[in-house]
Amino acid sequence: TLALIKPDAMQANNKEAIIHKIKENGFKIIQERQLQFSKELACLFYKEHKGKPFFEDLIDWISSAPIYAMILEKEDAVQSWRMLMGPTDSNKAREIDPNSIRAIYGKDGSHNAAHGSDSLTSAEREIDLVF
Ligand code: RTP
Ligand code: MG
Repeated sequence: TLALIKPDAMQANNKEAIIHKIKENGFKIIQERQLQFSKELACLFYKEHKGKPFFEDLIDWISSAPIYAMILEKEDAVQSWRMLMGPTDSNKAREIDPNSIRAIYGKDGSHNAAHGSDSLTSAEREIDLVF
């Protein structure tokens, strides 16, 4: 699956702590790189959300600063990584899954520290875009 550490977690210097949690949970990091999304790449990456009220802010934010991308391998990696991230909204994550990455490192419903592909098909598409 594809994991991204988003700008908020990068700027708060939480990259290493998140990578530690990833390894501790049995994921193997197959490839990794730091990069900054252009607006064009961000639009392609998040094209499923085009037209939604949060789309423009999401594109501006995700392309505003460096992010850290990793290809993660594990049995059931897609689901397993989304479980470890926790709910999309970090405030909800703190309520229902306080040990999750978004609960610990995210701020709110938009700035939530991490990304994970939602299916194998998405993972392939996103990995092609980023690596
Ligand atoms: P992601 O794609 O980043 O792993 O997150 P997700 O599947 O849990 O959530 P998704 O619905 O795909 O939303 C993508 C990202 O858009 C931002 N968002 N903001 N303010 C809002 O209502 C809102 N909703 C979504 C978040 O950064 C979310 O991770
Ligand atoms: Mg998503």
